[in-house]
Amino acid sequence: MEIVQFYTEMIKIGKNIDFAKDKLDKGGLVAIPTETVYGLGGNALNLESVDKIFNLKNRPSNDPLICHTNSISKIEKYVNKIPDVAYKLAEKFWPGPLTLIFEKKEIIPNKTTSNLKTVGFRIPNKEITLDLLKNLDYPISAPSANKFGYISPTRTEHIFKNFSQGIDYVLDGGACELGIESTIIGFENKNTIVYRLGSLVVEDIEKYVGDITIYSNEENFPGSFKSHYSPSKKLYLGDIKMLKDKFKDKRIGVLCFDKYYDFIKEKNQILLSKNSSLFEASKNLYSSLYELDNMKNIDIILSTLVEDTLIGRTINNRLIKSAEDNDEN
Ligand code: TXA
Ligand code: MG
Repeated sequence: MEIVQFYTEMIKIGKNIDFAKDKLDKGGLVAIPTETVYGLGGNALNLESVDKIFNLKNRPSNDPLICHTNSISKIEKYVNKIPDVAYKLAEKFWPGPLTLIFEKKEIIPNKTTSNLKTVGFRIPNKEITLDLLKNLDYPISAPSANKFGYISPTRTEHIFKNFSQGIDYVLDGGACELGIESTIIGFENKNTIVYRLGSLVVEDIEKYVGDITIYSNEENFPGSFKSHYSPSKKLYLGDIKMLKDKFKDKRIGVLCFDKYYDFIKEKNQILLSKNSSLFEASKNLYSSLYELDNMKNIDIILSTLVEDTLIGRTINNRLIKSAEDNDEN
């Protein structure tokens, strides 16, 4: 707690859109709230701002940034050939947790897209951020506002756990309503392809555009690093009783879906949803991982996968990636 307060003194936080705009206009970085997670924002057309984002996050230069703006007509200035199916998705789901990948025009710097010829755009569904974006004549590059590989922030205090300096302003939008990143969709040879599962579930997208393909070759997709969204403590997935027996000498914390385990101290467990709601679980997933990661009285975190449908599929995708750097998993 003291650490958070110390950091907040170093980085300004508030709801002042004009102040945020001024910082961005001058090439500074502003953490912006969205309905999914907080982003670390900078002018996508300004090479210095883009550099600052990569450096501050320790993000590899081969992991492209996505752009945020407030209207399709603005996006048309930055990309070529928007397919009909993209217009259909945009009209239905924007503002919302969907990122669409387009062929970029030259005005988008190669540095922003890690030399890809494509660029991702999204219109986030967060009023204060839309008000800011409306006033800008450039798009905002905003990867999640965490150090590369760590858990994405869904509350302002999470940002201060990642950064103590280098951000000119945190625009305070409270807790993120959805809590998991946007779904990323691209268009290849007339196919609609999901590159990253996210808060907009596949079943909802298919209602509007028919069958879509889920990219199976994740290793070759930019930004699809095996381990991601990970706490500092090791996370193990599986049967909690068996894992507890396996790690007898460790102090155990558990990320539970909807019930506590009676063989583990209740104060070492966090429930994702009292009402057994996958939607609520997704909203609480990252904030619960932050909480467990900060608990002084546990060494490792145990969890199980949830039902693999709708947003449960996205939750499982993130749990598996969070646990991925553990050889034992
Ligand atoms: O919900 C979200 O999408 C959040 C909020 C802040 O908008 N942003 C976010 O950004 O999650 P980031 O950078 O953490 O994740 C974006 C992912 C990365 O894995 C990146 O590699 C991929 O999108 N990406 C970016 N541009 C791409 C492109 N042109 N083609 C394919 N993938 C791309
Ligand atoms: Mg991220």
